Amino acid sequence: NRFKSLQSQLLKWYKIHGRHELPWRNTNDMYHIYLSEIMLQQTQVNRVRDEYYPQFLERFPSLEILANAKQDEVLSAWSGLGYYSRARNLHKTAIASSFALPTTQKELIKLPGIGRYTASAICSFGHNQNIPVVDTNIARVIKRVFALMDTSEKIVWSHAEEFVNATEPRHHNLALMDLGSLVCLPKNPKCDECPLSSFCKGKTEPELYTQTKKTVY
Ligand code: ADE
Repeated sequence: NRFKSLQSQLLKWYKIHGRHELPWRNTNDMYHIYLSEIMLQQTQVNRVRDEYYPQFLERFPSLEILANAKQDEVLSAWSGLGYYSRARNLHKTAIASSFALPTTQKELIKLPGIGRYTASAICSFGHNQNIPVVDTNIARVIKRVFALMDTSEKIVWSHAEEFVNATEPRHHNLALMDLGSLVCLPKNPKCDECPLSSFCKGKTEPELYTQTKKTVY
């Protein structure tokens, strides 16, 4: 693949600078990974890591326990997180999945509250499947690296698809995510610290490539 050396630069950067200590990156439990992705959609990483994720898992340690809880209990455990439809969908999905989440994007997307982003995140981070993942941070990296003027979701995903790394799919996607949140910042990106800067087509005018038509991936 034509991105091979670029990708190995990215992985080298990730080994040193990646956020490896995040608890949902250190588990094989698909319920934990799924829960983290739902929480992280609208809530800051530090608050999820320190407060909501451990508290929720203490109260509902498995999908089965979650499925057997009353909706009111789930909503009350969600208090502070906002966007309560996330909690209702979490509960519905626990029930609908009969306590085991499917392992393909196609099946995951059928569950309440799971869209393309969440399905791909579960398959990539949980099962190391060779598929692209695009959240707002990764979208910004992709747009800049390829200098995309068309910022539609479809175009960004198709570039992410070309850029996947078949050898280390999970680490590659996590590296892109961390690059977006630590280096390829919306304002004043730190191009001098970026492992992709030698290739990046948007480096000279990064602010040109920050707009999104849709902000939810
Ligand atoms: N690691 C895995 N998924 C993540 C996310 N959505 N945000 C931050 N770190 C993550």
